[in-house]
Amino acid sequence: MSYQSIQHVLKTAHPGTEVTIKGWVRTKRESKNAVFIALNDGSTINTIQAVAETGQLPDDTLKLITTGACVTITGQLVESLGAGQSIELKISHVHVYGPADPDKYPLQPKRHSLEFLREIAHLRPRTNTFSAILRVRHALAFAVHKYFNDNGFYYLNTPIITASDAEGAGEMFRVTTLDAQKPPMTDDGRVDYSQDFFGRETNLTVSGQLEGELGALALGKIYTFGPTFRAENSNTTRHLAEFWMIEPEMAFFELEDNMSLAEDFVKTVIRYALQHCADDLAFLDNRLKEEEKTRKKEEQSEMSLLEKLQFVISNEFERLTYTEAVEILINSKPAKKGQFQYEVSWGVDLQSEHERYLVEKHFKKPVILTNYPRDIKAFYMKQDTESGAAPGPTVRAMDVLFPGIGEIIGGSQREDDLDKLTARMQEVGIEPDALWWYLDTRRFGSAPHAGFGLGFERLVLFVTGMGNIRDVIPFPRAPKQAEF
Ligand code: 4AD
Ligand code: MG
Repeated sequence: MSYQSIQHVLKTAHPGTEVTIKGWVRTKRESKNAVFIALNDGSTINTIQAVAETGQLPDDTLKLITTGACVTITGQLVESLGAGQSIELKISHVHVYGPADPDKYPLQPKRHSLEFLREIAHLRPRTNTFSAILRVRHALAFAVHKYFNDNGFYYLNTPIITASDAEGAGEMFRVTTLDAQKPPMTDDGRVDYSQDFFGRETNLTVSGQLEGELGALALGKIYTFGPTFRAENSNTTRHLAEFWMIEPEMAFFELEDNMSLAEDFVKTVIRYALQHCADDLAFLDNRLKEEEKTRKKEEQSEMSLLEKLQFVISNEFERLTYTEAVEILINSKPAKKGQFQYEVSWGVDLQSEHERYLVEKHFKKPVILTNYPRDIKAFYMKQDTESGAAPGPTVRAMDVLFPGIGEIIGGSQREDDLDKLTARMQEVGIEPDALWWYLDTRRFGSAPHAGFGLGFERLVLFVTGMGNIRDVIPFPRAPKQAEF
């Protein structure tokens, strides 16, 4: 099959060469002397203009060449006289694989709203915006694997179906083969899961961390990169019911090491995208500039997308404790003027308005908050022996907060003391026997260790400058949304 990608043709081909390209028609324009077809094949944001003389193509072929049709074109590359491209294809042959009825094809050569495109998620990758996002998403995923491979980590596949709730938040989707209409019941009137496929209650995982810890305490440094599921009914621009998480876990790392790794990791993958997705990021940068123009002055961002990405990779993240952050928030203007929707005091879980104030207004750069109150964090986090200025017990947690996003990474050093961990589980109502396999790592050869989870879509959201997380995953899963 001798055809070339448009990306390859634009990068390498010389005038005079004969090439075959295959793709989808973006536009067809007819002038007095010629027909111009803009073709895109998804390999790049750029299109190739193919030109035929009027009368050259049979009428019934020409009729089928409409926006959305799939065609293969053979021709000779020639220097282009038109504005906007240096090279074009002088058509010698066209074959239409699949026509696209112009009256019914939903994507017209004009700007569609992101909301409309979400309703046709099966076709939106054919738009410039979504194909750019998907290529950037790919580059970031590749950079994640490359980063860990380059740094001595092993990729560990943790299970998707699990019997445990790693985060203890009870936001899980049940996995069952029992008859939903009439499930088997026990004598005391409960569903009898012992008759279910796995002989017990199972769910889709919210995090691969607990199994990741077992890997780290054997292989040293591991990471997971897989889908995770949360049945939280949050209809926000930052939450998905199905999202991809990257979870490195490292034996012998303490909280400081964990922070340094997280910072180096996100900077490195963003740098990779800047280096390898220049065309797509330039397009998205421009897209955002256009969108910003429609906003009120005070809501416009001070930096363009590319400036923001450069800024993040070239500045050190601000590190401070939760207690220090709460102090700043309590004394902030919006708190004094009652502009926060949620009040701040020591012990509350910070809302995204608070996180964004710290990042966007106060420090004006990414922030790593540490040493959170024990009661708002998961059971597995290492307890601080000394709480310092904090009025209550804290744990060695860390959240990385990003401009426009809020929390992008959550992690901690893990409690490696068997007695403390078991006691904490009992306090929060987790039956230690149910996690006997997890506790075995503390029983046999326990070690200090730490790790974190990066929400992959939140990273893609940041790098692409998009405003809604549903627009950075090919097929979003959110409350009442699972059509495609
Ligand atoms: O802070 P979270 O809940 O942490 C964990 O799951 C830990 N087990 C991670 C670890 O230490 N190994 O989630 C981690 C990250 C968040 O910071 C956020 O970026 C993302 O996952 N995240 C979501 N992304 C999209 N939609 C949701 N509903 C998300 N919930 C969390
Ligand atoms: Mg979190």
